[in-house]
Amino acid sequence: TSARAQAASRFAFTPIPAATDFTVHVPEGYEWKVLTSWGDPLFSDAPAFDPVTGTTHEGQARAVGENTDGMHLYEIDGREVIAVNHEYANLNINLPQNDEGRPATIEDIRQVQDSQGVAVFEVKDAGQGYEVVLDSPYNRRITHRTPMRISGPAAGHALLQTSTDPSGTEALGTFNNCGAGRTPWGTYLTCEENFNGYFGSTDADLELPEGFERYGIGHESRYAYEQFDPRFDLAVEPNEPNRAGYVVEIDPSDAASTPVKRTALGRFKHENAEVTLAADGRVVVYLGDDERGEFLYRYVSNGTYTEGGDTSGLLDDGQLYVAKFHEDGRGEWLALTPETTGMDRAMIHIHTRQAGSAVGATTMDRPEWVAVNPVRAEAYCALTNNKNRGVKPNAGGDETPVGGPNPRAENHYGQIVRWRPEGEDHAADAFAWDLYVMAGNPEVHADAYAGSDNVTPGNLFNSPDGMAFDSRGMLWIQTDGDDSNEGDFAGMGNNQMLCGDPETGEIARFMTGPKGSEVTGATFSADRRTMFVGIQHPDNFPDPEALPRSSIVAIRRLDGAEIG
Ligand code: FEO
Ligand code: CA
Ligand code: CA
Ligand code: CA
Repeated sequence: TSARAQAASRFAFTPIPAATDFTVHVPEGYEWKVLTSWGDPLFSDAPAFDPVTGTTHEGQARAVGENTDGMHLYEIDGREVIAVNHEYANLNINLPQNDEGRPATIEDIRQVQDSQGVAVFEVKDAGQGYEVVLDSPYNRRITHRTPMRISGPAAGHALLQTSTDPSGTEALGTFNNCGAGRTPWGTYLTCEENFNGYFGSTDADLELPEGFERYGIGHESRYAYEQFDPRFDLAVEPNEPNRAGYVVEIDPSDAASTPVKRTALGRFKHENAEVTLAADGRVVVYLGDDERGEFLYRYVSNGTYTEGGDTSGLLDDGQLYVAKFHEDGRGEWLALTPETTGMDRAMIHIHTRQAGSAVGATTMDRPEWVAVNPVRAEAYCALTNNKNRGVKPNAGGDETPVGGPNPRAENHYGQIVRWRPEGEDHAADAFAWDLYVMAGNPEVHADAYAGSDNVTPGNLFNSPDGMAFDSRGMLWIQTDGDDSNEGDFAGMGNNQMLCGDPETGEIARFMTGPKGSEVTGATFSADRRTMFVGIQHPDNFPDPEALPRSSIVAIRRLDGAEIG
């Protein structure tokens, strides 16, 4: 970094070195503690977490779930409520008594189903830092079994009808909840990512429906649900997977409210749902599809948002677009309509990937989180990596040539693309793009794999994934990559969280996670003096003597100043 850039630094911390150990590190002058972990009761009638056996069949649905991911904090009637995703299960950890964690009974399956989904809980700082409020009326678990309503263009379609729901509008559960979003009207958006892994067939010869291959839905499931729960058996309910892969809206202010699957936002492996407003008040949602060679999307509502106004149709009535990036630094949002795709409107929202292919969208290096800068009309998307780029097409989909915002073949490091909408209006159909950073390793490579100029020996990282802007317009970047600290990844250490300055391009390391973990999910307390950060799938954390537990940590400055 030049002396000038250093003098202009807007980082409120001294960057920290890479780490390879089993704990969390933050800069000098900051401290962290665990807020909550998998299995912590949300209600006093739930059994305590057992360090050897974990949770129970009956208790899991009343306790914090597994694999914390996206989250947001809400201020509701002067209280603070966090909604957080529980993405997937680690069977060998979650069912430790079972052989290789394999579910052996329907009760085991229910426990695994209840360990995923979403948790909503109140937090409070009574002077010793934030804690979860047991038995708060806001506390709630949403699991793979919670009743939900399906709304929007795909609701009721024949492909969404099942034997238990001939209406095609009432689903059970939300699946593989990865990233998140927050609407201006105070609801939480949870995003269904790798939903394909929950479905399988007890009939090995079953012919799978058209379109399943593109979504990775096959005869083998990841969790054996179909062996015990017929809803997940494609031989019994071939349409059940068509009811997953959506963005789901949850009202954190009402623990009795019914979550709504918003099919207008498309069906794919949703990463997060970053919401902003267009110049005229229309709601704009940016959406990544995290798969090698899949696409980046945008939704624009037909109606406009006004504070206190009717918001009920804003995520149902609108237009979905897909991104096309041109080599000259310009790009455009292509509308997915019956005219442009040759598909009817409901099918566009069920086979959204196929609709994107039909209009010639740009295949991307696994679009993870999108973050919109609150102080400037621009958005960022983490393109985490793509070992297949330039090698083979995506599964059942398009060729993946090198070029545009995906400039490297066999891309193991990832990059962050940024775009500025024409006229500073996120509803505009044209934008200009550039790469904010190309991750790399200048210690190991001298070519394009060294990374961009803002990658230095002091901030090495790979596989950017989670991202969030703070209120000052600083970009927090979290990683989910190779933490071997060897070869191409030497000097990068464990997964981490960095802070990027959009103006200078500078990037500084703020936090390192424990070995084996991915750092994912970030939100701030109402006073912005505490930052909550997710630690997902650690090897040996927080108690090295107990089962490893995904956790949310609370970080604050010792002097009590604002972080974000
Ligand atoms: Fe669940 Fe793409 O991360
Ligand atoms: Ca992710
Ligand atoms: Ca990832
Ligand atoms: Ca993950």
